[in-house]
Amino acid sequence: MNEKIGDILVGTVVRLYPRYAILLFDGGKTGLLHISELSNNYIRNFTALVQVGNIYKVKVIDIDEENDSMRVSVKQLTDAERHRNLPKEHIGEDEVDFSALQTHLSEWINDENQEVNMEGIKLDLGHLVTKIDIASYQEKVNEIHKMIHEGTGLGSDFLGWVDWPENYDQEEFARIQEDAKYVREHFDVLVVCGIGGSYLGARAAIEAIRGLGPAKKPEILYLGQTLDPDYIADTIDYLKTKHFAVNVISKSGTTTETSVAFRLLKDLLEKQLGKEGARKAIYATTDKENGALLTLAKKEGYARYVLPANIGGRFSVLTAVGLFPIAVAGIDIVSMLNGAADARHDFSEPSLEKNAAYRYAVVRHHLYEKEGKTAEFLVTYAPSQVQLGEWWKQLFGESEGKDGKGLLPASVTFTTDLHSMGQFIQDGKKTFFETTIRVNKSRRLLTVGKDEENLDGLNFLAGKDLSEIQQKAFEGTVEAHTVTGRNDNLILEVEEMDGYHLGYLFYFFMKACAMSAYLNGVNPFNQPGVEVYKKNMFHLLGKPGY
Ligand code: PA5
Repeated sequence: MNEKIGDILVGTVVRLYPRYAILLFDGGKTGLLHISELSNNYIRNFTALVQVGNIYKVKVIDIDEENDSMRVSVKQLTDAERHRNLPKEHIGEDEVDFSALQTHLSEWINDENQEVNMEGIKLDLGHLVTKIDIASYQEKVNEIHKMIHEGTGLGSDFLGWVDWPENYDQEEFARIQEDAKYVREHFDVLVVCGIGGSYLGARAAIEAIRGLGPAKKPEILYLGQTLDPDYIADTIDYLKTKHFAVNVISKSGTTTETSVAFRLLKDLLEKQLGKEGARKAIYATTDKENGALLTLAKKEGYARYVLPANIGGRFSVLTAVGLFPIAVAGIDIVSMLNGAADARHDFSEPSLEKNAAYRYAVVRHHLYEKEGKTAEFLVTYAPSQVQLGEWWKQLFGESEGKDGKGLLPASVTFTTDLHSMGQFIQDGKKTFFETTIRVNKSRRLLTVGKDEENLDGLNFLAGKDLSEIQQKAFEGTVEAHTVTGRNDNLILEVEEMDGYHLGYLFYFFMKACAMSAYLNGVNPFNQPGVEVYKKNMFHLLGKPGY
């Protein structure tokens, strides 16, 4: 390699990961720019600063002769080096605009300063009716924090999600991005075939970020989550007219709902595309070493991704289980993992003053144990967030609902459900509290027009944007429920529903859930109760061995 340590080069970002970028230089050499080499200040959101296609001036800090690649740094450039123009041959055919680079650098510094104290979400406890001495739980929280981080608690074989945003499989991540691009470009529909933790996270993310508007390409459909003959037959009929791919997801590989649907989908694909064509349209996410689906996927030669053995289904949204379908839907999974990595960083200390996930866990535990609350409503304000509520219900319901304990996790969508459940929540028996997710920025803007006749009496809203109207509905509801209704209300403020913030939110809830379940004295990571119906069903269906 001609380059040596200390050389200054200009390269283009060609691939982006949550914590580093790959730059391409003249002559085809590549360099790795790690988040820690971007600036001396703490950088929260790497992928908000670095984009594919950006051009950076960097210093070579390490050389790997064997792999013909380099490690490069922006922060190790001296001021003089930053300002020095490079000879033109180093720059490549297109002239690089150094003034733009300088502007970027100053933006980075500003962004960092603004962001250091900003959480991906804000937990507002200002609407609690109950006075809670949160600090009094610190000792207990310290103990449990140790259990989570040292793997000494019940179910400690399932803690792989804790460091996953840093320890994810990078080779698989790159494959997921490439395969997702292929599916987006070659198919009309992706069918996500899975149930419970093997599909809820993907659906929550896709709907929350993409919205529920007219179907976008590729359309994402869900099967394998029901045994309802009408839904399955209708979906299969619809697919007969479509060019579709399937992502079958099952850790055990024996889940009845998923296996039955997959058999039907595979049959249809083989009829439509032949065996070889079907093989290229099927992507399987399975356990690494065990299970019927793994055996089938290996035999048929499907593209495969892994659900790690140490991550349970409901904690798996940030693995291939969620990431592949989410990426096919066109959502930025780099940002999503980046948001999760920032949450991991933010919730890595036990201090209840700093750790919002643990504060949330403590408050819900206190309301459950000391105030006798039996249910928690997760409140969202968008139909596209209904599935986020479903994901959250599984996370907390399956993790805490055992040994005769646990809050009932319920979800409502306002303002829709203010016209149904609103009465109970305002005036009913006070056995519950509310946790409201408030997203500050909507994707779309729509203004109410003025009508000369004003027969509907709505001119008082003319000129107002719908988000402004919804904001007032939110403020009015919180006040009604807390001041008049005396409900405890925790508010989780999220800046916007994009990959970064949802990745952050997913991790926030998972960390809070582990803490909360341990505070209740149960194993957060098993689900013995779900086996009972399966045994009965298998017995009734005559499955061998039941
Ligand atoms: O969280 C869980 O463990 C469950 O919801 C499972 O994900 C669900 O039952 C599907 O299991 P499998 O992936 O083995 O098909």
